[in-house]
Amino acid sequence: MVKSAQLSINGNTFELPVVEGSEHELAIDIGKLRGQSGIITLDPGYKNTGATTSAITFLNGEEGILRYRGYSIEELAEKSTFIEVAYLLIYGELPNAEELGKFQNAIKYHTLVHEDIKTILTGFPSNAHPMGVLSSLVTSLTAFYPESLDPNRSKKEVDLSIARIIAKLPTFAAWTYKNQVGQPVNYPKNKYDYVSNFLYLMFANRAEEYEVNPVVARALDKLLILHADHEQNCSTSTVRIVGSSHASLFASVSAGISALWGPLHGGANQAVIEMLENIRKDGGDTQKWMDKAKDKDDPFRLMGFGHRVYKNFDPRAKILKKAADDVLQALGVDDPILDIAKGLEEVALKDSYFVERKLYPNVDFYSGIIYRALGIPVDMFTVMFALGRLPGWIAQWKEMRESGEPIGRPRQIYVGHPARAYVNIEKR
Ligand code: CMC
Repeated sequence: MVKSAQLSINGNTFELPVVEGSEHELAIDIGKLRGQSGIITLDPGYKNTGATTSAITFLNGEEGILRYRGYSIEELAEKSTFIEVAYLLIYGELPNAEELGKFQNAIKYHTLVHEDIKTILTGFPSNAHPMGVLSSLVTSLTAFYPESLDPNRSKKEVDLSIARIIAKLPTFAAWTYKNQVGQPVNYPKNKYDYVSNFLYLMFANRAEEYEVNPVVARALDKLLILHADHEQNCSTSTVRIVGSSHASLFASVSAGISALWGPLHGGANQAVIEMLENIRKDGGDTQKWMDKAKDKDDPFRLMGFGHRVYKNFDPRAKILKKAADDVLQALGVDDPILDIAKGLEEVALKDSYFVERKLYPNVDFYSGIIYRALGIPVDMFTVMFALGRLPGWIAQWKEMRESGEPIGRPRQIYVGHPARAYVNIEKR
């Protein structure tokens, strides 16, 4: 096993410790390098930088492996439930029946939100993007529960914040949608499980009885499991770095929602459907759009393709491709964009541009097709990703706080003007 690395700079050699993970991944620990040499490392986008050690999620992008707390994503997606996975991620072990019951009850107890939330909600124009509204509603929890701001809270008090945010996020998400379409909001119904309650909040209307379709509920539960954590991605790193200043869980998660929103991250699921729709309207010529994606003078990218870490199939995309077929069939939905997506994938997997760059479909490529079949509106897709990712954000925030990680504060190399004298305005 490698124990240390040597770095030689201008004739000076520095001995750097090597850290080994439980799956034998290696990292050079450069934490003391600046103190010894005055030199920092530079890695824009953190492409090769480990920001932490973590015991939550293992990901091997070369082999397409994803595990939560040691359990494979394939097995969890098939056999577990989203709430059980949330417990696993946050508390480290699969719950026994009593632990699961207590966790579920704690969540059910907190599903209602303060009525004043409605005032905040209706202050947004109805065409506001749901991600911006969601992020604002989550951070507003700091106002309704000011005690959550105390960085020295007991484990029991932190658990209360955890139950509150898991319980309230579906209510916020569905109310955001109801506000958008101008319908009265529904109040949570605790007779339902987590996902069924969300579907009820979203789709029930006063005019007719609402029945949760078990096919829809199970498909959504699986989607949430697949999104529940993905180690140090953009939004999770955001949650950890915001939390590292001892900002509250609610403030940190709100920042994570904003980070997730962008089309290169969680926003890709919305962008994929919009892209597939455009291809369909344009006549369905997949090769034409592939050529656009490869053209360096064209800003268009094949959304839902490529990944910072996966240089092989994203295991979540494999599960979702099959789930898309199953769900559409079970619901009797015939969506022409599923065929366009499969056609694009087939062409891309044989195209040297995509093969050489190891660009494969990612989790967002098929998820939107399933959301659409389940009746979720396109601009709510990234909200669904946020609902799924919440346990991961919580687990990572909790791990970071419990291990006493220092405040996140990267360095930089300054490339601006050298020192210069102030010039009075009349001389500029
Ligand atoms: N279409 C066309 N070319 C691509 C694509 C794509 N989707 N993705 C990467 N490339 C090319 C890129 O132009 C570059 O080519 P070259 O080496 O000739 O300059 C090369 O592949 C490497 O790309 P990169 O941008 O340096 O890679 P990255 O690791 O910085 O970016 C990514 C990863 C996910 C942002 C990128 O692949 C992308 O923009 N994909 C489309 C957006 C997307 O689907 N995002 C969802 C990611 S999965 C969900 C999540 O966890 O957020």
